[in-house]
Amino acid sequence: MLPLLLHLLLAAAASHGAAAQGGGLPSFPIGVNYGANADNLPSPAAVATFLATKTTINRVKLFDANPAFLDAFAANAPSISIAVSIPNSALPSFADKATGLDAARGWVRDNLAAHVANGANVTLLLAGNEILGPVVVPDLVVALLPAMRRLSQALQLEKLPQVRVTTPHYLGILAPSDGIPSNARFRPGFDNKVLAPMLKFHNDTGSPLMVNAYPYFSYNAQNLNYAIFRPNAGIYDPATKLNYTSMFDAQMDAIYTAMKKLGYGDVQIAVGEAGWPTQAEAGQVGVGPEEARDFNAGMIRVCSGGKGTPAMPGRTFETYIFSLFDENQKPGPIAERNFGIFNTDFTPKYDIGLLRQGSSASPNPSPNPSPKPSPNPSPNPSPSGGGKWCVAKTGADVTTLQNNINYACGYVDCKPIQSGGGCFDPNNVQSHASFVMNAYYQANGRHDYDCDFKGTGMVTSSDPSYGSCKYVS
Ligand SMILES: *[C@@H]1O[C@H](CO)[C@@H](O)[C@H](O)[C@H]1NC(C)=O
Ligand SMILES: *[C@@H]1O[C@H](CO)[C@@H](O)[C@H](O)[C@H]1NC(C)=O
Ligand SMILES: *[C@@H]1O[C@H](CO)[C@@H](O)[C@H](O)[C@H]1NC(C)=O
Repeated sequence: MLPLLLHLLLAAAASHGAAAQGGGLPSFPIGVNYGANADNLPSPAAVATFLATKTTINRVKLFDANPAFLDAFAANAPSISIAVSIPNSALPSFADKATGLDAARGWVRDNLAAHVANGANVTLLLAGNEILGPVVVPDLVVALLPAMRRLSQALQLEKLPQVRVTTPHYLGILAPSDGIPSNARFRPGFDNKVLAPMLKFHNDTGSPLMVNAYPYFSYNAQNLNYAIFRPNAGIYDPATKLNYTSMFDAQMDAIYTAMKKLGYGDVQIAVGEAGWPTQAEAGQVGVGPEEARDFNAGMIRVCSGGKGTPAMPGRTFETYIFSLFDENQKPGPIAERNFGIFNTDFTPKYDIGLLRQGSSASPNPSPNPSPKPSPNPSPNPSPSGGGKWCVAKTGADVTTLQNNINYACGYVDCKPIQSGGGCFDPNNVQSHASFVMNAYYQANGRHDYDCDFKGTGMVTSSDPSYGSCKYVS
């Protein structure tokens, strides 16, 4: 057990998301996709004002360059950075050797320049969406990178150098594989021809490779916990000796591995879309507000919380949750219309810690809003009295408890239960699990569900600390 813990500790350096004041979930900056394929949404001005003043959301991704939306953000939310999408059909005109640069400059002038001058904080331009599949149109594949180059040039010439250029990819740019991250590579045919030169473009221009990462489209009833950041046995990558307890981490590290195989491991990775629906077809296991909450909260910790992934510890990823609102006019399966994180009256559909705590919150969320919790628990019980702790239930299944340790040590400081630590003795799984389950419960804001651990945890009001072992409260 010890090597695993040590390993997880290294991978999890600086992993704490400290609870925000008021005991909610840790509040991190994050982006959202703001799609508007709905007939019941608030006005763009109300949305922009809400995001800027009431939430820690600091980026939005728009699916077009709708002037009403850009104006709304210019007037009400100049701090929020905006990713603007260009339709797929426009790419060939920018790719043209003779006329492409003029066309790209024209597009930038007509669609961006005035809004940026008025205060819209556009920082990313997305050349089409999922051009490399699942639906492949050969003319668009050929046009994609030349169009990105001309758009980047056009932005420089039009004096908007702060706007970077990228394009969102679906995960199928990876060759089919067994799910072990170190075995990943880009799809043959796209790897050297399209992605290597595109990664060079990203490396040269300082823009991120953007992927849409959807464990939702890969999970089944058996691996649900792995897909939504709940405690699970995980998978082991023998080549890197890394253990993965989340499919999202494994997907990110698969992309990273594939990039490294082409020589571009240093290019930033951005997540264009990732999310989980609250509703799907009747009888579909694993969909609902709790599942959506667990997935999104886990993803935010990885992408914004400074935790990073097993192969990229400590890195952060510019990430856009899919999606801000449910979109009731979208075609397709029920789930497509139910990815929203907010209701149309701006109440959250579930708590993932994105609301600011009262009006005293600082107007600009900092990337590291709260200090790390001290590894030495405070000697005083919480001022509200009535301390609460999470402990392992007596007689709980030892394998499950060991999984809880493996999982929670990805998020919290587990030094105290290692040899030499204050909570090492008694040296048994029950005692070690209690300590880390509590640390996890406290760090996440003491929701009852953070002490569930597949039914092996229980909340108690009596302080389990003993001798040299102080339980955080
Ligand atoms: C990862 O987990 C596997 C199986 O659960 C275990 O055998 C292995 O020792 C773990 N790897 C590390 C590096 O701790
Ligand atoms: C625009 O967004 C960037 C990147 O998120 C941020 O650093 C900058 O402060 C924002 N600009 C304004 C005026 O707030
Ligand atoms: C990426 O860019 C850096 C400079 O920004 C350069 O030193 C490095 O060689 C580039 N990497 C590749 C693989 O082109």
